[in-house]
Amino acid sequence: MHNRIIIKEKINNFEKKIVIPGDKSISIRWVLIASLASGLSQAKNLLLSEDVLAAIKVIKKLGVKVKFKNQTCKVYGVGVDGYKYKKGIILDAQNSGTLGRLIAGILINSPYSIKIIGDNSLSKRDFKRIAKPLKKFGANLRLKNDYTLPLIITGSKNLKPIKYLENIGSAQVKSCILFAGARTTGKTFIKVPTTKRSRDHTERLFRYLKLPIIVKRQKKFDLIEISKIKKIKPFNYKIPSDLSSCAFFIALTALSKQSKLIIKNVNINPTRTGIFTILEKMGVKISLFNKKIYKGELLADIFIQSPKTLKSINCPSHLNSGAIDEFLVLFLIAAKAKGISFFKNLEELNQKESPRLKWGAKILKKMGVKVILTNSSLKIYGNPNLELDKKIIIKNYLNDHRIFMTCTIASLSFGGTWHIYDPKSIQTSFPNFLKILKSIGAKIN
Ligand code: S3P
Repeated sequence: MHNRIIIKEKINNFEKKIVIPGDKSISIRWVLIASLASGLSQAKNLLLSEDVLAAIKVIKKLGVKVKFKNQTCKVYGVGVDGYKYKKGIILDAQNSGTLGRLIAGILINSPYSIKIIGDNSLSKRDFKRIAKPLKKFGANLRLKNDYTLPLIITGSKNLKPIKYLENIGSAQVKSCILFAGARTTGKTFIKVPTTKRSRDHTERLFRYLKLPIIVKRQKKFDLIEISKIKKIKPFNYKIPSDLSSCAFFIALTALSKQSKLIIKNVNINPTRTGIFTILEKMGVKISLFNKKIYKGELLADIFIQSPKTLKSINCPSHLNSGAIDEFLVLFLIAAKAKGISFFKNLEELNQKESPRLKWGAKILKKMGVKVILTNSSLKIYGNPNLELDKKIIIKNYLNDHRIFMTCTIASLSFGGTWHIYDPKSIQTSFPNFLKILKSIGAKIN
């Protein structure tokens, strides 16, 4: 693969049915939970991206056998107390915040010190957010500068359950606490303001596996109770498609003329569908059909067609957690909408693989769109007639997969000549992204 792609032509008038790879959040959770189950679990359509492969490497280092056969991933779970801990072990979460944070919760009772490291991007990200609750449980934990990886965790035999207010709206923090609570005698409680409700795949998997979790949705808070897990039955899973990966194709259709797209068998967990609500407010119609429930998750086929006009939005911040990975493409849609759009309380976006709020503004500025950026908000002055006729170079973006894919969609939607560097960044979450784009007619060199 070259170290950049060049796109010079827009794409319009497509009518296609596509299949998007497996969900990243569910794939990583399946690998981790299957490793702790008592016996063989198998997954089909597991996302084979670097983040998920990193999770597989991590469980292998902890003594779990993994095999691939006929597109099926087989994890030979060792039981909840079966990891083979070795002295001096180093686990590499690579680019994955989900893996780094969830595995730390799982290791809360390891008898030895374990070091968790990550790549250049992950090593800049906030791990204090999980150190705080894990220390409350009684784990011994050290971070570089009290904030980032490497993290050294030495489990404790004297763990005590905690009560914790998860106020960031982070599923990674919530899931880290759930895993730690699942290894601690007694009842751990997590309280999450309903306005900060984050993706709940861990809760749904635990419930499906009949593990001791109780989720109560109250008026202002969700209250989650987790107790020590004694045994996990092995379980097979067919991973549905990832809505966050679909978002790039949804945005492309919303920004193009006279196009229609069907995306099959997508996970439409209600904690992830903020993008639908936001797009509907902006005048984009999305239809869901063939809805079904699969192992506690909601799935559907998605149909979307190009809208005649796009409306600006003052985006309500209670939708932020449910669309957290989709804002980069939503900013592109706002750039083409009639009027001024405003996105607020989005400081979390700067905590991702790159500071995405800043990068969103930077990309739009390069496109000549007027924006006003603060630490937590972005105002976008939309222009329905926006057409580009210049050269735009995108590089040095910490290899953030979603920046690369967003710029690809921008180039195919607004024109101009784009040189987008480091296409290998898509390996993190969506290895066949460019291939699917080409299959609907995109010209990419
Ligand atoms: C994820 C949670 C989100 C999301 C990330 C995946 C998960 O992060 O941005 O891509 O699988 O739990 P936060 O929980 O930090 O918001």
